Amino acid sequence: MENLFIGLMSGTSMDGIDVVLADFDDQPRLLASHSHPIPSSLHTRLVTLSTANSAHEIRLLGETDRLFGECLASAAITLMSKAGVDASRVAAIGSHGQTVRHAPNNKPAWTMQIGDPNTIAELTGITTVADFRRRDVAAGGQGAPLVPAFHQAVFQHPDRDRVVLNIGGMANITILPANEQAPVTGFDTGPGNVLMDEWVRLHEQRDFDRDGRWAATGTCNDTLLQRLLSDVYFQAPPPKSTGRETFNLDWLHGFIHRQPVAPADVQATLTELTAATVADAILRHAPATDEVLVCGGGAHNSLLMDRLRAHLPGHAIETTAAYGIAPDWVEAMAFAWLARQTLLGLPGNLPAVTGARGSRILGAIHPGNDGLRH
Ligand SMILES: Nc1ncnc2c1ncn2[C@@H]1O[C@H](COP(=O)(O)OP(=O)(O)O)[C@@H](O)[C@H]1O
Ligand SMILES: [Mg+2]
Repeated sequence: MENLFIGLMSGTSMDGIDVVLADFDDQPRLLASHSHPIPSSLHTRLVTLSTANSAHEIRLLGETDRLFGECLASAAITLMSKAGVDASRVAAIGSHGQTVRHAPNNKPAWTMQIGDPNTIAELTGITTVADFRRRDVAAGGQGAPLVPAFHQAVFQHPDRDRVVLNIGGMANITILPANEQAPVTGFDTGPGNVLMDEWVRLHEQRDFDRDGRWAATGTCNDTLLQRLLSDVYFQAPPPKSTGRETFNLDWLHGFIHRQPVAPADVQATLTELTAATVADAILRHAPATDEVLVCGGGAHNSLLMDRLRAHLPGHAIETTAAYGIAPDWVEAMAFAWLARQTLLGLPGNLPAVTGARGSRILGAIHPGNDGLRH
């Protein structure tokens, strides 16, 4: 069996499914990648499930779980045909699923990712590992972020203190000390692109603010910024993780309704909010950092990258492309790697990151055509 794995990732942004084919024999290698669209009717279902209390929620959930599972399977199948790789060569698929709720601080704590892995295993014939987060939550953890163990495996350096910054819908950092004896830590810093996306959709009918161009036409409103920064999440100590449940348009409107601000100025302020909260997290929790490696879609937002550099003038800030993996595929690679960890019987969480009681083998295994042989 070759050591090929597929990773399927669809984050808070719901901008599409990232799918990668990776080889972990030696150094992790990205062999092929594909960005798979989510049909708009399915997108609407996922957004509804993530926010509303619909009267038919259980039915909507059950149906959408299956439909999204089909979509994930076709993402994997499309990638394999693009790459000319037969399913029999793939050891497993690691599928994150779509988070429809994340409530790790609820009592009882819970989180839910959907995209039926039985359907993925059935349609691809490939063993599918999914539902990675709930074991960590069951062990008292946040269930997030889960990418730090992969960041550690790929990006830790013996002489340089590094931070990996993933700017997806939410933003999260992984702190990788040069000293390998020191624990790797990390947490969600708060919103990444999600508020900027929602705001540009509302006012400009576009999915996102390409390169921060619209934000660049506005000016950051300092009064509004200070109010946004007063949210308790930003000062809360790690471990912590967050999602659309907290940072959404309702949250933003709660600050703006008292103080009308021009839409482009709000966009500039939201860009600044992400840059400022990320920079503050790094300065407070990883003051020794030499290099910041940026991944996720936010790495393409040149205004955001400029603002990050302005806040962190002493740091080398580059996208992960400079370190061997294009920024769009790091997260999907992480879930391919997490599937491999599971099959090898190795843990996928870092307790210092999630707050879980200990290391855990994550996920549930849904056997493919080869049964449990791998
Ligand atoms: N060229 C770009 N300019 C500005 N923002 C971008 C650009 N490309 C991608 N993005 C942002 O990245 C987001 C997607 O990031 P991604 O890492 O896929 O997040 P998630 O993991 O939440 O799906 C988009 O919604 C958009 O906000
Ligand atoms: Mg995405």
